[in-house]
Amino acid sequence: MTDQTDENKSSNAMWGGRFAAGPDAIMEAINASIGYDQRLYAQDIRGSRAHAAMLAAQGIISDKDAEAIGEGLLTVLSEIEAGGFPFSTALEDIHMNVEARLKEVIGEPAGRLHTARSRNDQVATDFRLWVREQCDAAITGLDTLIRAALTRAEDGADWVMPGFTHLQTAQPVTFGHHMMAYVEMFARDKSRFEDARKRMNECPLGAAALAGTGFPIDRHATAEALGFDRPMANSLDAVSDRDFALEFLSASSICAVHMSRLAEELVIWSSAQFRFVAMSDKWSTGSSIMPQKRNPDAAELIRAKIGRILGASVALFTVMKGLPLAYSKDMQEDKEQVFDAADNLMLALAAMAGMIGDMTVNADKLEAAASGGFSTATDLADWLVREAGLPFRDAHHVTGSLVAMAEEKGCDLPDLSLEQMQSINPAITESVFDVLGVHNSVASRQSYGGTAPDQVRAQIARWKEQLG
Ligand code: ARG
Repeated sequence: MTDQTDENKSSNAMWGGRFAAGPDAIMEAINASIGYDQRLYAQDIRGSRAHAAMLAAQGIISDKDAEAIGEGLLTVLSEIEAGGFPFSTALEDIHMNVEARLKEVIGEPAGRLHTARSRNDQVATDFRLWVREQCDAAITGLDTLIRAALTRAEDGADWVMPGFTHLQTAQPVTFGHHMMAYVEMFARDKSRFEDARKRMNECPLGAAALAGTGFPIDRHATAEALGFDRPMANSLDAVSDRDFALEFLSASSICAVHMSRLAEELVIWSSAQFRFVAMSDKWSTGSSIMPQKRNPDAAELIRAKIGRILGASVALFTVMKGLPLAYSKDMQEDKEQVFDAADNLMLALAAMAGMIGDMTVNADKLEAAASGGFSTATDLADWLVREAGLPFRDAHHVTGSLVAMAEEKGCDLPDLSLEQMQSINPAITESVFDVLGVHNSVASRQSYGGTAPDQVRAQIARWKEQLG
């Protein structure tokens, strides 16, 4: 490999034919992507091997050259995987680094690999392959997380806890119901990645620089060899489209929002004031000054990950907006953010699954909290409608007066005596006490999708069957 970092450097070996001098050092620095796109080495080599095999099958290069290229690329692959590969900034990116090394390994035939291809379709193919793998990783990570949440839901299908609106006690729900809400969210996330994967599974390779090529290539063959459903139908679109990355980032952002909400609940629930859950030692840290502390750091970090993941999607949307067709170098700025978002999404998914799988849920604390805050006031109002024939608005008013009375006496609704209740509305009878208990309250919420343990169990069974 020619050392192009010398003071007296020559023009680029790959494209420098018309250049008398090499680039300014700062030009080289701003232009190079090898510092990060080396992550695409496996996809790049896979794409090149498929391309070379197709060129030979079409009689565009000889079988002998294609064989040398294919073998040589495997050598380069193992060299990179062994570590310490001398990536060169002067060679700009992963595509030219691999090709230059191939030339050193096999000599002249290496120069035939780039026939009927451009770095524009090459990078679009490599990056698509990489993002497709990340969709698969997200799907697997979500599957694990969904199963962890389902297990917790099953344990706690009967445990009552306060359901909140405005973070104020609203009505009792079950812990299982609460967990199943996240199962629904994470399952939608999973389907978003599945959906995006299907849409991105078209191959840009063979679009060449932008217009296609005059060589008799077989784009269907390369598409198939790389596991794509079909070649992309428009060469301009093929090299300039980054929807697949935008969709991946969008799906990742929504998923990160969901994880952030659950993480926030875990932070609140594990606080001394709530103690609904206790994080296991594996997922907490201590304080260097306050010996009593057990901090839910993993939950806090997951809560924060949305910042960089959404940041990545805003960055790429901004890069892409207003770009004329077809390729522009702006698009080289597509990768780092996606790499970072994907790494952090996978980490957060794994941490969330581990954390909820290992946490202890304090069913007693949940139940005690569920019974406070007049959580069955709606049940009382509903009883007045059903049993005493009051219009709901009047029932609401009567219940409000009873809550005020209990509040004044410093007790909960079920602690009021029948006489005290009748002093507000004489139609109230002993049977009202049946609906004031939190277990009866949740058991009565039998509407489809409601919090009654039977309903929750039916949803758990449905998901278990679906996940197999
Ligand atoms: N490193 C480039 C990128 O990531 C590869 C494509 C370069 N194409 C070009 N015509 N300069 O976008």
